[in-house]
Amino acid sequence: MAISGRIGAARRQPAALLRRPIGHGDPRRHRRLPRFRLSLGIIIISLVFIALLPPIFFHFRLRRIHKLQLRKCGWLNDPPLVCAHGGDSTNAFPNSMAAYGLALRSKVDCIEIDVSRSNDGVLFALHDRDLQRITGNATSKVGKYSMKEISELDVPHPQEFNDKKIPTIEDALKLISGSVRHVILDAKVGPPSYEKGLANDILSVVERARCKNCIIWAKSDTLARDVIKLSSNITVGYIVMIDPNTGVRSNLLRMKGAGVVGVYHLLIDETLVRILHRRKKKVFAWTVDDIDSMHKMLSDKVDAVVTSNPSLLHKIMYDIRTECLEEGFSLQG
Ligand SMILES: *[C@@H]1O[C@H](CO)[C@@H](O)[C@H](O)[C@H]1NC(C)=O
Ligand SMILES: *[C@@H]1O[C@H](CO)[C@@H](O)[C@H](O)[C@H]1NC(C)=O
Repeated sequence: MAISGRIGAARRQPAALLRRPIGHGDPRRHRRLPRFRLSLGIIIISLVFIALLPPIFFHFRLRRIHKLQLRKCGWLNDPPLVCAHGGDSTNAFPNSMAAYGLALRSKVDCIEIDVSRSNDGVLFALHDRDLQRITGNATSKVGKYSMKEISELDVPHPQEFNDKKIPTIEDALKLISGSVRHVILDAKVGPPSYEKGLANDILSVVERARCKNCIIWAKSDTLARDVIKLSSNITVGYIVMIDPNTGVRSNLLRMKGAGVVGVYHLLIDETLVRILHRRKKKVFAWTVDDIDSMHKMLSDKVDAVVTSNPSLLHKIMYDIRTECLEEGFSLQG
C-alpha cells in the first residue's frame, strides 16, 4: 500500500520526483535511516570479525606449533634403532674388536658389520677401503688375499684394546650378537668369485654362530635374492641409493621377500618412509654422521639410523627428548 501510494505520488509530480530512485519516499524524513542501518551493519560485521579473528589466528598458530612439535618430538614414541657402522668407528678402527667393544659399551641397538670373503672362502669383518688403509695400497681387495695373509695384518687400535687381529665374521658375531637387538651383515661382493656361493657361506656362519637377530643386506640384489631363496627365517634387506655411474636412484619397491630397506640418507623424506611402511618394510638410513642429518632422520621417523658416530646420535636423541618433555610433549603409552 505504501509503495503504490508513493508510485501514485510520483505519477502526479513526474519531473521533480522521478529523478530520485523509486522507494526512497519522502526525502526529508527517511534520508538518514539507510545510511545509519548500513553503518550499523558494518559495525556488527566488524565486531564479529574482530571477535573471531584471534581464535581463528590462534587455532592455526596452535596447529602449526603442534605440527612442528610432532615433527621434532614424534619419534620419541617409537625411537629408531641406533646402529653403529662398523662399530664405533669414530673412536676406533672400523670393524675392529675395539670398535665393536666401544659400541657395545655405549649401548647401541645394533651394529653393522662389513662382510668380505678372502680368496680361499673365509668371511672377514673387513671393508676393501679399510684394508687399503691397513696395507697402504689403494687397489687392495679383500678377495685377493688369503685367510692366512689377512690374519697376519694388524689393525691400528686404541691402547686399551690389545686385539689387533682382523676379526672373522664368526668372531664378530660371537662378541656382538648376544648384546644387541640386531646385527646387520653388509655383504660385499668382490673378486675372485663375486656372488658365487656367498649367500650360502654367510648363512652357514650365521647358523654356526646361532645368530637369531642377524639381518643380511647387500648392494647386490642377486645376493639378497639368493639369501631369501636359501633361508626363510632370516631378515633380508636391499639397498636404495644413487647409482654412481648413471646418477639414477634405484627402485624403491623391488624385492617382495625383503623386510628391510637400507636407504642412502639423503634420499629419505617422510613420503619415502610412508611408502615403504605401507609395504611393511623397515627403513634403515645409512650412513648418518652429521648433526643436521641426524635431526632430519629422527623427524622423518626412520626405523633405524646407521652411523659411524653412535655417541653423537645418542647425545642428540637425549637432548631432543629433554627439550620435548620440558616443552610439554606427552609420550604415548
Ligand atoms: C696393490 O694391490 C694390488 C692388488 O692386490 C696388487 O696387484 C699390487 O701389486 C699391489 N701393489 C703394491 C705396491 O703392493
Ligand atoms: C633357520 O632355519 C633353518 C632351517 O631352514 C635352521 O636350520 C636354522 O637353524 C634356522 N636359523 C635360525 C637363525 O633360526
